[in-house]
Amino acid sequence: MQFPEYRPRRLRRNETLRRMIRETKLSVDDLIYPLFVAAGKNVRREVPSMPGVFNFSVENLVKEAREVRELGIPAVLLFGIPAKKDPLGKDAYSDRGIVQTAVRALKDAVPGLMVITDVCFCEYTDHGHCGILKNGDVDNDATLEILAKSAVTHARAGADIVAPSDMMDGRVAAIRRALDAEGFPQVPIMSYAAKYAGGFYGPFRDAADSTPSFGDRRSYQMDPPNAREALREVALDIQEGADIVMVKPALSYLDVICRVRDAFDLPVAAYNVSGEYSMVKAAAKLGWIDGDRVMMEILVSIKRAGADLILTYAAKEAARALGR
Ligand code: PBG
Repeated sequence: MQFPEYRPRRLRRNETLRRMIRETKLSVDDLIYPLFVAAGKNVRREVPSMPGVFNFSVENLVKEAREVRELGIPAVLLFGIPAKKDPLGKDAYSDRGIVQTAVRALKDAVPGLMVITDVCFCEYTDHGHCGILKNGDVDNDATLEILAKSAVTHARAGADIVAPSDMMDGRVAAIRRALDAEGFPQVPIMSYAAKYAGGFYGPFRDAADSTPSFGDRRSYQMDPPNAREALREVALDIQEGADIVMVKPALSYLDVICRVRDAFDLPVAAYNVSGEYSMVKAAAKLGWIDGDRVMMEILVSIKRAGADLILTYAAKEAARALGR
């Protein structure tokens, strides 16, 4: 059938019709909201490069998490900003660490909200790299041990899901083994399986104070031009025991999300990262784009590409727009 018999515009004539044949629907159930918890009391510091995103001390984090739950958002992803950083990032694997303390508070005060914890060292080390250093580079196998320890402390505090974001080889297996050995076989791993090194994490490093003091993350995070390698990374993480696999960033990597979706049957998450959020906010502030509209278009694009779950700083505004 072709023109003039077939006229695609027939089904675009009004919103009700468009609503009926819409192929992709974003739902509040798809959203995960990242939150930053900082040491101290009475902290509610807006991140300069991320309007609407804050560093919260524990008691304010609990208030924010209640609001998140009221909006119907099912889960938060927690990042910790410790009072003190050191070469080993010790706060990351202390039962009294900032994230562990925050998890206990959230599980106690906001039941029903899924608490996912980011497992990594860059927010905890004084050099800002994602693991232990040896000869100026991150030592993979030494880092595995403390990553596993860190994940166990999160689980012990009550974390519902752990999410390693360090990009060390073999970390999913190391974490799975440790969780099982310590009595947490029920805690799923959402692995940042295909995480690319690039420029989109800038504002996050402002928020988490985690810019590497020298060099960059290119010796452990992936090279942006590579897509086949992403499939190998995802396959490895699945073999090692990942329950949910993530692609990160999302917007510049929609092709990767799509290929991962086609090649594997596990739930796929995509991280709409800080730089993607800040670009929209900045352009909207300049009056160059309609920020609300563009944000929703980006989120639905990520879902259309194949993501089941979307980690986004826009989760609250999206939940409101979706009418909950
Ligand atoms: C920790 C981590 C980072 C992000 C999530 N987990 C920073 C990084 O890899 O430098 C970035 C999130 C964002 O930019 O929104 N490794």
